[in-house]
Amino acid sequence: MDLKIRRAEEKDVQAIAELEAVCFKGEDPWSEGAFFNEIVENADKTLYLAAISDDRIVGYMGVWRILDEGHITNVAVDPAYRRQHIAEALISEMIRLTSEGGTSSWTLEARVDNEPAIKLYEKMGFTGVGVRPGYYEYDGTDALIMWKGHEV
Ligand SMILES: CC(C)(COP(=O)(O)OP(=O)(O)OC[C@H]1O[C@@H](n2cnc3c(N)ncnc32)[C@H](O)[C@@H]1OP(=O)(O)O)[C@@H](O)C(=O)NCCC(=O)NCCS
Repeated sequence: MDLKIRRAEEKDVQAIAELEAVCFKGEDPWSEGAFFNEIVENADKTLYLAAISDDRIVGYMGVWRILDEGHITNVAVDPAYRRQHIAEALISEMIRLTSEGGTSSWTLEARVDNEPAIKLYEKMGFTGVGVRPGYYEYDGTDALIMWKGHEV
């Protein structure tokens, strides 16, 4: 598979929001406006990456850089392109780029019932360190807090 990972730009906002709506259906997906805010308005504090295959966006991820920490906001891959290591490629590239900018630890929340995501992050060196009860307000599910590169 021909896969390219590059920084997401303003022209990608609509496609990313459309993919978000598919990947987080029923789970409070972010709006196009929210992605515009993240990718364009807050470009100095965030890094959003897009995975391109067959000339379209098939995956994306975002991270906020806060001091030396990276707070991952979202990672998603088009259902038709899953299990081809695209999420892995996105996270590896994000870690490489943010490390260069001084980030030394990364964190995220995942639904405790989201086995694909938890397995993915474990494979990428993240460890579950605690639970935020009822974190997902739309259905009250708990979040697993995961960190990589952080003394806990
Ligand atoms: C989670 C998600 C991003 C994974 O994307 P992906 O490109 O299919 O993942 P990869 O192919 O890079 O998988 C890397 C590793 O993650 C784990 N993994 C991924 N999907 C898995 C699944 N369905 N079941 C078990 N393990 C899985 C495996 O360890 C896999 O390595 P392997 O294929 O060598 O066994 C994708 O399923 C998705 O978009 N889900 C909906 C959105 C979501 O839940 N995002 C995370 C929010 S916290």
